[in-house]
Amino acid sequence: MKKTVIAALILGAAFSVGAWAAKEGEDKAGEKPAAAETKEVKAEEEANFCAKLMAGGGEKKAGKKDAKRDAAELEKQKALQSPYPNDCGPETLDVSKYPKELQAGYKILSQKCSRCHTPARPLHSEFVELASGAKDKKAQDKDKEQQMANLKKTEPELFKNPRVWKVEADIWKRYVKRMQAKPGCEIETKEAKSIWEFLVYDSNLRKMGAAKKDWEKFRKKLLADFKQFSPKRYHELYEESEEESEAGESKK
Ligand code: HEC
Repeated sequence: MKKTVIAALILGAAFSVGAWAAKEGEDKAGEKPAAAETKEVKAEEEANFCAKLMAGGGEKKAGKKDAKRDAAELEKQKALQSPYPNDCGPETLDVSKYPKELQAGYKILSQKCSRCHTPARPLHSEFVELASGAKDKKAQDKDKEQQMANLKKTEPELFKNPRVWKVEADIWKRYVKRMQAKPGCEIETKEAKSIWEFLVYDSNLRKMGAAKKDWEKFRKKLLADFKQFSPKRYHELYEESEEESEAGESKK
């Protein structure tokens, strides 16, 4: 399975074009790009974004030009005020060994998903989306269902700690669309699809298979750092779960 997984992913991404396009209309609330007026503030120098976040970072803009811009600004404030452990990871990723078209997806993600939070948020998320090379949406769904059942049997550890792995059939598709629908998120359908394809590929490559142990270690470190920076938000995110201390501990 491991050897074929990469090929299947690429195939899956290619075959899924139709499935994406078909469902695209319903989530996007018909927003038009608001041109250069909403110029984003790039903050690449923020090496430790997590620390900055906790210190109350996130600039407030005084001038309120129009409702659309206000809505976008509000969304950004919301994103900054609701941090995630993901944010404690690096904002960039070495994708030089990724297939070319997926490198392009990464580049778009870096540009477009950095407006309200940093790219660290999607990059170091616990989300993993299954990939399928099946021809149409129906066959893909069936295939993914089967994959999920197999995974639960053969790799039950992936389902034991949802703070480290959240494996679902369509989780990245759902979240990219959700972000795309937010006010101030000017992402075209084609771009959203590229981002999604990258996230599916990357989540399988870096969090699953041979990379599983490394990912677990890395993600637990993010959780531990985050808990230290913001115990309150940590609790807010994970209070429903019982084994709080288990995920929080990590060797430094
Ligand atoms: C317009 C502002 C905005 C843009 C642009 C944006 N996000 Fe977000 N993002 C948010 C907000 C606000 C949250 C807080 C939780 C929520 O609303 O879902 C968030 C949370 C997230 C989370 C954490 C969700 C969770 O429950 O763990 C992920 C992952 C994420 N965004 C991915 C992305 C991706 C991928 C893109 C680019 C396609 C993107 N975001 C672009 C505003 C934005």
